[in-house]
Amino acid sequence: MSTLADIAQTLITKQKGILAGDQPDWHLAERLKAHDITAGDNTYRDWCNLLFSTPNLSDDVSGIIMHPQATELSTEDGKSLVDVIIDNGIYPGISPSTGLVPLAGAEGEVVGEGLDGLRDRFAKYAEMGVKFSKWRTAIRIGDGIPSEYAISANAYVLAQFAALSQEAGIVPIVEPEVELLGDHTVETCFEVTEWLLKRTFEALYLHRVELEGTLLKANMVVSGKDCPTQADVETVADLTVNVLKRTVPPAIPGVVFLSGGQADDKATAHLNAMNANYDTPWALTFSYARALQRKPLEAWQDKADKFSAGQDALKHRAHMNALASVGEWSEDLEK
Ligand code: 13P
Repeated sequence: MSTLADIAQTLITKQKGILAGDQPDWHLAERLKAHDITAGDNTYRDWCNLLFSTPNLSDDVSGIIMHPQATELSTEDGKSLVDVIIDNGIYPGISPSTGLVPLAGAEGEVVGEGLDGLRDRFAKYAEMGVKFSKWRTAIRIGDGIPSEYAISANAYVLAQFAALSQEAGIVPIVEPEVELLGDHTVETCFEVTEWLLKRTFEALYLHRVELEGTLLKANMVVSGKDCPTQADVETVADLTVNVLKRTVPPAIPGVVFLSGGQADDKATAHLNAMNANYDTPWALTFSYARALQRKPLEAWQDKADKFSAGQDALKHRAHMNALASVGEWSEDLEK
């Protein structure tokens, strides 16, 4: 097995998942503002440190995705945040995209930006000890969209990112997300997800990406946020496993889901239903940002004396989702 495949296998270690901690500072500030808290000079550093240094997090978490900003920061004692993750027994990952920008000639559609200079940035991250990377593209469902153009353009960006990541010895996680926003039905989400995943794997093939050393970060097949009829847990699990079976080669070691704005308990229940009821050729686990960070942020509120309360809340959500990744979660365990 190549090093890339070894890293990918470690990331999908049984009963573990990934913490997406790759929000930039302004994003954290916005989330705190919703709780009437104004972020200070060290808030971003302290939040990342809280997440990354949570005691025993490695029982449930195999990897943590960082924003490039976090790789430049150190704790008060002068330890780099990358080393905080490594010393916690967890693989550090990087999210090197510079964000989503309007796709020229495609009103209402976006494309991921940040490929320029990526080879050099990956070399720098590899030197720091970064083991994996993640790139998100977002496909919106709306009036007349998505277009084949947007789907293909994003698939190509993901594939170029993945090829560059592997060249640096860093395992890529490709994240072609169908967004939750909109009033579309669960069936429409299924169709668009199938289309997007087909194009993504075609592009990975054309770009000579080694599938054994790649993970897929997928959306679950859910009803649009504003759809009057919301699919139940069993339907979401069934359609999600089915769309993956139609599109994802068994050579991919694992699918790690985004939470996409789902409620915390829904993200956990959906993952659990898939693992409890279906046999799949790939591991199915979590790579949540909001569904892991929402509760810890409420508990912490940027207060030094609530640091460990934030860590306890993270540990709890990570553990619930680790159980869901083997189909052993139940609502009673939440109490
Ligand atoms: P959510 O789980 O909040 O959708 O985030 C996933 C992600 O990839 C963040 O980078």
